[in-house]
Amino acid sequence: MAICNPSSPSSSSTSTSTKAWIIHTLAVGAAAAVALGAHAYLYYRRSGKFRSRVIGIIPARFASSRFEGKPLVHILGKPMIQRTWERAKMATTLDHVVVATDDDKIAECCRGFGADVVMTSESCRNGTERCNEALQKLGKQYDVVVNIQGDEPLIEPEIIDGIVKALQAAPDAVFSTAVTSLKPEDAFDPNRVKCVVDNHGYAIYFSRGLIPFNKSGKVNPQFPYLLHLGIQSFDSKFLKIYPELLPTPLQMEEDLEQLKVLENGYKMKVIKVDHDSHGVDVPDDVDKIERYMREHNLH
Ligand SMILES: *[C@@H]1O[C@H](CO)[C@@H](O)[C@H](O)[C@H]1NC(C)=O
Ligand SMILES: *[C@@H]1O[C@H](CO)[C@@H](O)[C@H](O)[C@H]1NC(C)=O
Repeated sequence: MAICNPSSPSSSSTSTSTKAWIIHTLAVGAAAAVALGAHAYLYYRRSGKFRSRVIGIIPARFASSRFEGKPLVHILGKPMIQRTWERAKMATTLDHVVVATDDDKIAECCRGFGADVVMTSESCRNGTERCNEALQKLGKQYDVVVNIQGDEPLIEPEIIDGIVKALQAAPDAVFSTAVTSLKPEDAFDPNRVKCVVDNHGYAIYFSRGLIPFNKSGKVNPQFPYLLHLGIQSFDSKFLKIYPELLPTPLQMEEDLEQLKVLENGYKMKVIKVDHDSHGVDVPDDVDKIERYMREHNLH
């Protein structure tokens, strides 16, 4: 029965070396994180600027399968894209705000209310690629790029500032984003993306399914589930390689772009905010948001 004997020399030596390996790996990881943190901190102290040059980009396209011409739809008398832009301009961490679009009507409308516009090609497959192309075309150096989705016209400037500051304070992360409390009725809605984070506020996983999943199979009314908000900010060096990273299995299975970041081993910082999400995805959402704005005296 030597095989089953837990104290046989071979099995104990295996377990010792396994433990040693784990401890070694943890120590190396921690040392690297400390070194990186210290480097960033010294850099910050010396120059007063770590990831300090920040641009907000609002990607906007005219064609949309679910809502043609969405950025130009009027919400209480103002184009939706203008409302998003006005909110973004109130953020104190952004040095510059631009609209990135492939559409002349959108460009003309935005210039009309005073926005800077960068024309991008129609071949951009998603907002991230559009942000990346806009960044190249601007030709100016920025350290951080905030992707401000045009379909959240009530985005609070404080949330934009919050994710920028989170990325500036986390040199080991390349990406930052925000979550808010998930409403129980959204638990099983696959369009509402859920997120789980570690003790230090780094993302562990995002899913269209409910995570974590209670053993009972039901929503646990006591658990603080997190809803992912569309806004994200990137280290600009990472943004250049992000679209070129090959699609990854979990990303493809869930159809969630951000999983590619985690699957490639990059870190993502997540902040928790209070935000009543009023995204405009389909024409019906316009009525809903207008009703909400009237009720809350927002104009
Ligand atoms: C699941 O949810 C219930 C409440 O509905 C809670 O009491 C329990 O601790 C949760 N976890 C497990 C493993 O059941
Ligand atoms: C944008 O979409 C393309 C095609 O769907 C995908 O391969 C790519 O990963 C996406 N971009 C990013 C930055 O993930």
